[in-house]
Amino acid sequence: MEPRLETNRDNWNNRVKVHVESRFYDVEGWLRDTPGPPPREMEALGNLEGKSLVHLQCHFGMDTLRWAQEGAIVTGLDFSPAAIDEATSLAQRAGLSERASFVCANVYDAPQVLSGSRFDIVYVSLGSLCWLPDVASWGAVVADLLAPGGRLYLHDVHPFTSCFDDAGERVIYGYFEEPNSPFIFDSTSTYTDGEELSATRTYEWNHSIGEIICALIKHGLVLDSLSEHDWTLFQQFPWLVENASGQLVVPEGRPRIPLSFTLLLHLPSKGDEQLDFCQV
Ligand SMILES: C[S@@+](CC[C@H](N)C(=O)[O-])C[C@H]1O[C@@H](n2cnc3c(N)ncnc32)[C@H](O)[C@@H]1O
Repeated sequence: MEPRLETNRDNWNNRVKVHVESRFYDVEGWLRDTPGPPPREMEALGNLEGKSLVHLQCHFGMDTLRWAQEGAIVTGLDFSPAAIDEATSLAQRAGLSERASFVCANVYDAPQVLSGSRFDIVYVSLGSLCWLPDVASWGAVVADLLAPGGRLYLHDVHPFTSCFDDAGERVIYGYFEEPNSPFIFDSTSTYTDGEELSATRTYEWNHSIGEIICALIKHGLVLDSLSEHDWTLFQQFPWLVENASGQLVVPEGRPRIPLSFTLLLHLPSKGDEQLDFCQV
């Protein structure tokens, strides 16, 4: 694995224990109440009973296991051994081990590591694409993992917000992908409550909405929907306020900007009509 990703992996290994013990994730509450996936995701994906789902960059598996609770056969993949250990143990504690397995690998190696398996759903949740230097290669990975007729569900941080400084006041970073010019951060904090990190360095990349969509349709996926949301799920900027649904939103008086987005695409089955309308 390339050195910048190794550095990121050290940072993520360090975050796992902090996150598992945080109020933000509330693992004990989740085990007690076993809430399923968010209603908007259930509405988008429908009944996944018996369907196969691979969660790329699954962290310690909580978002993955929500789908196992709904009857899906889930595989979580993450490059952090600490995350995969916690995910495996969480699956056992939740009584979901029979429907859930977890694999430690770089996302770019997923098709090989998963031995060419094809899935009904490729699922990616908030805070994922910024860790990847090259979204075009990621698009090829997603296409390789989907069964014909399979769907990608991606909910992530809106790349427009990644252009701002920590205070969310000034645009200081570029919107478009620059594989050789990552954003370099040194921070002892993470997005949850909890103790300080010792592995502080991270390398992150922005990918524009256009780059993400074209990375996928270039490999034969068909775009079903793109939604840009005026809400997110973590305190990305100090001035975001929580609404009645627990989402973080822009307060009144500030310009409304997109904070996260959801993409849904599918890989056509043989014989499906396919429109070839994008060349990057
Ligand atoms: C913000 S977390 C995703 C969080 C998820 N939405 C959740 O709340 O559980 C990002 C994850 O990406 C993983 N990751 C980063 N780069 C990766 C790579 N190249 N291959 C595989 N996993 C990676 C990290 O280990 C981390 O678990």
